[in-house]
Amino acid sequence: MDKSENTLSLLDYRQKVEIARDFLKREIVRPPEIVLVLGTGLSGVAEEIEAEAIIPYEEIPHFPRSTVESHRGRLVVGKLSGHRVAAFQGRFHYYEGYSTKEVTFPIRVMALLGARILIISNAAGGLDLSYQPGDLMLIADHINLIPENPLRGPNVEEWGPRFPDLSEAYSKRLRILAREASGSPPYLREGVYVAVPGPSLETPAETRFLRLIGADAVGMSTTPEVIVANHAGLEVLGISVIANVNDPDNFQPILLEDVIANAQKAEGRLVELVKKVVARLG
Ligand code: HPA
Repeated sequence: MDKSENTLSLLDYRQKVEIARDFLKREIVRPPEIVLVLGTGLSGVAEEIEAEAIIPYEEIPHFPRSTVESHRGRLVVGKLSGHRVAAFQGRFHYYEGYSTKEVTFPIRVMALLGARILIISNAAGGLDLSYQPGDLMLIADHINLIPENPLRGPNVEEWGPRFPDLSEAYSKRLRILAREASGSPPYLREGVYVAVPGPSLETPAETRFLRLIGADAVGMSTTPEVIVANHAGLEVLGISVIANVNDPDNFQPILLEDVIANAQKAEGRLVELVKKVVARLG
């Protein structure tokens, strides 16, 4: 792709984002302050919302479609713990074949609508061997191994800076608030999330490598959305639900059924935590 082609496709992308924003502006009475992105087996958080609008992704112009069966594709807008929220039930992944610009399209649209906070969840594999399936991990930081940065290419200055700072990609304030709100139960951990491209799961040797480079949990999502959220000036709370724990010296097959079942088992904990955090946002 030469430079002019790159600029053209960015123009196109910008227009698509603005068209989707204009559509949602008409559909949503008052824009949400908080965006929730719900990962594998975790879409039930949206059931807690007093919904004012439920919008299937296919109705939103230029919105990607979710191709993974375990992910629903709809946007639920309404109130949660007294705050205006928009929850994406089902997200897009790099492994589905989407570019990271497509993956982050929903975040960009919500940022333009005026959202201030992103609460993003995922199901992840534990690398810290003290973790147990069903634990929740507040994401303190990330390592992005997905080989395409969503901000690559010409920068839209109105959307954010060319070189966004990621020194606190995951808000310290929100992590403290989450610990205070939850009473810090033993299953609430805090650690580093590493995103791999997927869709194949890690080998034992890769698992050892990911642990060595400083990660506590591994998954195939979240980092592109968090990069864009930071670019757009949103404050981010990231929560991994530990669905399995991967011990390189005693490696067990990682089965999607188990990942989903374990994520769903921990969903109640996630729902409670998210509700308490949102209630405390003031
Ligand atoms: N690896 C990568 N992604 C995952 C895992 C894992 O072990 N568990 C849930 N998502």
